[in-house]
Amino acid sequence: MNKKVTKILNKKNKSKVICLTAYSKNVASILDKYCDLILVGDSLGSVLYNFKSTKEVTLDMMINHSKSVKQGVKKSLMVVDMPYNTYHNPKEALKNARLVIKKTKCDAIKLEGGRKIIPIVKTLIKNKIPVMGHLGILPQTDKKFTFKGRQIKEITNLLRDAKNLEEAGIFSVVLECVETTLAKKITKHLKIPTIGIGSSANCDGQVLVIDDLIGLNKSKFKFVKQYADVKKVINSAVKKYKFEVLKKQFPKFKHSFKNK
Ligand code: KIV
Repeated sequence: MNKKVTKILNKKNKSKVICLTAYSKNVASILDKYCDLILVGDSLGSVLYNFKSTKEVTLDMMINHSKSVKQGVKKSLMVVDMPYNTYHNPKEALKNARLVIKKTKCDAIKLEGGRKIIPIVKTLIKNKIPVMGHLGILPQTDKKFTFKGRQIKEITNLLRDAKNLEEAGIFSVVLECVETTLAKKITKHLKIPTIGIGSSANCDGQVLVIDDLIGLNKSKFKFVKQYADVKKVINSAVKKYKFEVLKKQFPKFKHSFKNK
């Protein structure tokens, strides 16, 4: 098994798994120092391209951003989201996952869904492709983005899906907006780490979208915490640049070229 995958698995019940998304090299190289896992999420569709849904994200977009991210990743496990419409059946999923791995040199791929995708997960794992699961809110297919685990049926289904995915061989699972007690139950019942986003501190690790965390993207979601205001930093730098160009304070002699 991939050593980086084993490292994530070994964190269960020992230490929290630190995960963030990245869509480019410069950001990835900063995150790599602090993260165990860097996810090239298809959230890039809404964050970077203003798409209404992740359904519009293409395999080419994921591959291109992942190639950039790879340049900044040295030690973290790099996971790439398989976009909507690229894993309808085991054969298609294997072809597309192989392409993603070949082109991006990522360590693993992430798929959204429960029982329905088990044959796909099994095929990928049989072909030595490490798979991360994603349960709870499924942005690629859900119509309503409300938290999961309200009714008994939903709770039972999610618990069963998580167990089935674990038995199929996934090494970790993202729980998106899963009710606190249910997230605790799933985490306790699985041997693999659960990575929460909007699913409480009961999960084995946490993930956030980096643009939300640094205040570059204004998120409307309750589960996001903004740790910095990078928008403010860029604003003041660009304002100063404009002022200096207008006042002929930039560029100076030292920024220019001259024949001797
Ligand atoms: O697409 C994404 O960025 C994700 C994370 C938010 C878990 O799936």
